[in-house]
Amino acid sequence: ADLDTFIARLPKAELHLHIEGSLEPELMFALAQRNGVTIPFASVEEVRAAYSFTRLQDFLDIYYAGADVLRTARDFHDLAAAYFDRTAADGVVHAEIMFDPQTHTARGVSFDTVMEGLLSAVAEAEAKHGMTVKLILCFLRHLSEEEAFATLEQARPWLDRITAVGLDSSELGHPPEKFARVFADARALGLRLVAHAGEEGPPEYVHQALDLLDVDRLDHGNRSLEDPVLTARLARTGMTLTVCPLSNLKLCVVNDMADHPIDHMLRQGLRATINSDDPAYFGGYVADNYRAAAAARGLDRRDLATLARNSFLGSFLPDDAVAAHL
Ligand code: ADE
Ligand code: ZN
Repeated sequence: ADLDTFIARLPKAELHLHIEGSLEPELMFALAQRNGVTIPFASVEEVRAAYSFTRLQDFLDIYYAGADVLRTARDFHDLAAAYFDRTAADGVVHAEIMFDPQTHTARGVSFDTVMEGLLSAVAEAEAKHGMTVKLILCFLRHLSEEEAFATLEQARPWLDRITAVGLDSSELGHPPEKFARVFADARALGLRLVAHAGEEGPPEYVHQALDLLDVDRLDHGNRSLEDPVLTARLARTGMTLTVCPLSNLKLCVVNDMADHPIDHMLRQGLRATINSDDPAYFGGYVADNYRAAAAARGLDRRDLATLARNSFLGSFLPDDAVAAHL
């Protein structure tokens, strides 16, 4: 088979996916109509044309605006169901998906509505596609510590169905240390911990995610490579990095895919994985990200298999399930 087919058939886990970032323009329009919500675009083409970003914040402004069409449990169900169908076709057999409850509770949509919609889609996908799914509740780092604590409180009735907490949104100016106490409480509640770090922020933020949050996994982590001691530490400790090539290109974390460091990460012994981040906004789902990285950096079948293997090793599946996937 050719490399594209090899990639599509390679069983893989997706570990870095924001479910709100899987909202395709077609579904955005359909939900706007269903809910009587006005969106600032006249057509699907106009929406896609607006997806041109020079930094993370450009994207976030549009991403939060798009999420306004999500109002009912059925909307969250339809959003997640579309993602599971699409990603199953890409060979994803396990997905750990992030959601941003504060984006919704701030608009008067309850935490419970979000959970009900997502969980019904998870149950459906597990039955329909034979995939497994875990949920990661992300705190928006541009909001306060107090608001994060309030969100963790709202999550309490649902904790048996939430695997981890994460940290996303505007990185610069909002270092991990701001959430050290929230993460300590989440850990005490039995949750696993992840955080975006080193996407736009400096290596110091990665140090903080490790030392002050005690994360189990790093989202992005690209800028770790600027610090050789940090890079060696990540390799030595087997820390998983959830790298997102098309996102990195669209948000100008790299200027060209030809400059993407994915192969350097592998050669330096980092447990790098490939993920889609916000596929509706960045131009591709997980297999597209493998293909783009492979084409730009000359990854071969062995590298692609290593990336897929890393995705299971870095997952929050129990050891027997990880072993069954290797
Ligand atoms: N929210 C959704 N995608 C994100 C990203 N790549 N970085 C930070 N916050 C996000
Ligand atoms: Zn992300």
